[in-house]
Amino acid sequence: MSDRTRVVVIGGTSGIGRHFAQSCAERGDDVVITGRSEDRTKRIADEIGGQTRGIALDLADPERIVDALADVDRVDHLVVAALDRDYNTVREYRPLDATRLLTVKLTGYTTVLHALAPRMTDESAVVLVGGLASHRPYPGSTTVTTANGGIGALVRTLAVELSPIRVNALHPSIVADTPFWSDKPAAREAAVSRALTKRPVTMHDCAGAIAFLLENRSINGINLNIDGGEVLI
Ligand SMILES: NC(=O)c1ccc[n+]([C@@H]2O[C@H](COP(=O)([O-])OP(=O)(O)OC[C@H]3O[C@@H](n4cnc5c(N)ncnc54)[C@H](OP(=O)(O)O)[C@@H]3O)[C@@H](O)[C@H]2O)c1
Repeated sequence: MSDRTRVVVIGGTSGIGRHFAQSCAERGDDVVITGRSEDRTKRIADEIGGQTRGIALDLADPERIVDALADVDRVDHLVVAALDRDYNTVREYRPLDATRLLTVKLTGYTTVLHALAPRMTDESAVVLVGGLASHRPYPGSTTVTTANGGIGALVRTLAVELSPIRVNALHPSIVADTPFWSDKPAAREAAVSRALTKRPVTMHDCAGAIAFLLENRSINGINLNIDGGEVLI
């Protein structure tokens, strides 16, 4: 078995997950990324390059997660970043759409841990990606706010149950250079004006924070906001 760090990024075909996977591949890690489509995931794994391979996986179908991850062997670092977006409000509620996102972000994330925990070592570490919507609701965020609040609780029980494996979560505000926000300049500018740093949070910032959470061996069971101080005002 190679002594390279073995990294798995669930939701590694786009945005923050892809950016983090790219940074790992560039430093020589063995990387597995997942996305829903086999062809797309394999193509993006090839684009990332290095020792990267792609696996198709739909977290909205949690019964199939264990089988989909069956040929992943040792896992040193696991990042779970998948998101299937849902715009929902309580007055015009679409329960099926809400259920899909809650399944992805809560049952799906937990099932990934169930599948991969047996392939982790005592030094392994996990980062779940939540989001600041848990504390800062916005119009249509009802399901996302609920899911990200759940991630905040999930890290605590997972850190206890999986000890000595470490489990932490990162909660970004708007990450300005992700594909989702690329065509929404007004929302990006509003986020910059709310941040005390007066600069956008970027995927590079998130990748650095994820690396910190994975690598610092005393950081465990925490929810780290990455928002330029936005929650203080
Ligand atoms: N972007 C932001 O500003 C922001 C802010 C706060 C929090 N976050 C959090 O950061 C994480 C990443 O967000 P992002 O905007 O960078 O991501 P993104 O670009 O929207 O990419 C989402 C990823 O999730 C995968 N995915 C979608 N539905 C899935 C499903 N049902 N099962 C498995 N995988 C699925 C996608 O793969 P395929 O499309 O290839 O299937 C893709 O790899 C999310 O957890 C999000 O809540 C993001």
